[in-house]
Amino acid sequence: MFFEIKDLTVEVEGKTILRDINLSIDKDEVMVLFGPNGSGKTTLLRAIMGFAGYKVIQGEIIFEGERINNLTIDERARLGLGIIYQHPASIRGVKLHQIASFLTKDDSKIKDLSQRLSLSKHLDRDLNQGFSGGEMKRSELFQIILQDSKFLCLDEPESGVDIENISIMGKVLGEYITKLKKSALVITHTGYILDYINAQKGCVMIDGKLWCVGNPRHMFEKIKELGYEKCKDCLIRKST
Ligand SMILES: Nc1ncnc2c1ncn2[C@@H]1O[C@H](COP(=O)(O)OP(=O)(O)OP(=O)(O)O)[C@@H](O)[C@H]1O
Ligand SMILES: [Mg+2]
Repeated sequence: MFFEIKDLTVEVEGKTILRDINLSIDKDEVMVLFGPNGSGKTTLLRAIMGFAGYKVIQGEIIFEGERINNLTIDERARLGLGIIYQHPASIRGVKLHQIASFLTKDDSKIKDLSQRLSLSKHLDRDLNQGFSGGEMKRSELFQIILQDSKFLCLDEPESGVDIENISIMGKVLGEYITKLKKSALVITHTGYILDYINAQKGCVMIDGKLWCVGNPRHMFEKIKELGYEKCKDCLIRKST
């Protein structure tokens, strides 16, 4: 298996946030993660990336056959894990073009992609400093593509992005994932991204637990129709 999580329990500041998470994602496979606010979705991505403060109490995170639990965030990034943040940080004094040149030596790639994502005029600005919500998300997508990670953890890549830019971002991301056979774990509330990426699996996180792996489009329709509370009822019935 390309990416696997086994029985993962994660604690943040002494509080257990995720419990007994199991999931697997194949090479060239995209899984979408749904769930209400505060259910633990971002915590899962941060635990996968190895952020400080996300303590693995139990379980394993395995990437390309290697147990990565004890690797630092930069070691995981070097292995091929990348993240788009839900709330990206701003860095004063570091220009977007400097980050871009750090991530790739291919200047034509930087030029083409920045044009496609309407970021050319922002290349000279400090990273995310004063960027609008949508510009920040486009800048995140720009960086993760230049980084050329093998496994993409995308935390609400389309949130705050206007409808035209969702379409541009969606196409860029969809093409990138399909052409280069990337694997991804994608969090979405709006579901817009499902129109652009070919996601094979979906799952729902509720109260720090993962439920119900299935068809993401069907799942999203049911969530819209019935809400997460009903989803929870149904899942509880199923598991007892
Ligand atoms: N450092 C922390 N200290 C205390 N609680 C935390 C900390 N980090 C996360 N939590 C709590 O863990 C829970 C899960 O948070 P998380 O950000 O993973 O939710 P989410 O599913 O991504 O929600 P959203 O859809 O709103 O982004 C929340 O109740 C949050 O307040
Ligand atoms: Mg979140």
